[in-house]
Amino acid sequence: MSLQSIEVRKLTPTIGAEISGVDIAAGISNSQFEQIHQALLDNLVIFFRDQDITLDQHKDFGRHFGKLHVHPQPSVPVEGHPDVIAVKADENSTRVSGQYWHSDVTCDLEPPMGSILHLLEVPENGGGDTLFGNMYAAYEALSEPMRKFLDGLTAHHDGEHFRPRTSDTSKEFPRAEHPVVRTHPETGRKALFVNRIFTTEIVGFSKEESDALLEMLYRHIEKPAWQCRFKWEPNSIAFWDNRSVLHNAMWDYFPQRRFGYRVTVCGDKPY
Ligand code: SIN
Repeated sequence: MSLQSIEVRKLTPTIGAEISGVDIAAGISNSQFEQIHQALLDNLVIFFRDQDITLDQHKDFGRHFGKLHVHPQPSVPVEGHPDVIAVKADENSTRVSGQYWHSDVTCDLEPPMGSILHLLEVPENGGGDTLFGNMYAAYEALSEPMRKFLDGLTAHHDGEHFRPRTSDTSKEFPRAEHPVVRTHPETGRKALFVNRIFTTEIVGFSKEESDALLEMLYRHIEKPAWQCRFKWEPNSIAFWDNRSVLHNAMWDYFPQRRFGYRVTVCGDKPY
């Protein structure tokens, strides 16, 4: 039986916490699930170390939080596991997934609630950190007139312009329209919800106006003031809440190898 209580150590005052006292391979109890869930809501992204888990254990852990998401166009699919994607970079890579600030698959009508990434291999000389940004804090730091202006606006999200070259071009990426400021369905807090990978335009504005507004928001969102940075080790896990967090995987280790698996939990329609 796994330990019942977990420890939560904050990485920064604004975002991120490392969790200990959990052995994911052994399965988590209801009480541990509740504590982990609360730690995720409180810290937006949580980290675990030394978790030597199989794909099935990874998926079982994810299923505690909801149905598993099937990516519409995985760059590196995993045979026999449509609900898992591989995250892989090596000397042959021309791009890597997760590069540039984004929330996962926001082109979906119901974008994922959370993503759980388990890395097995990390670059041997360092690098390959992932940065996470708190989108409640980014929203709250805007001036009141700007918050009022953004509330009620919507934006188009589309995966086509970032389509992986290896993807099946007979399949289309989904497209969706989402609020620029979404309300988190569990905390009730407002968060900015646009990102460089998927957002294409703010609805109702000219292209010039929309581009300028989005660029202003991207620069604001990407400020270090509301970020934490996670340094990976083999068997580390990061679990982020896509409803309140953007992330950016640093590709600063070419030609070295970085490899792992991501299980993604389904979410609901942003409002
Ligand atoms: C991702 O966006 O899922 C990848 C993040 C990472 O590789 O750190």
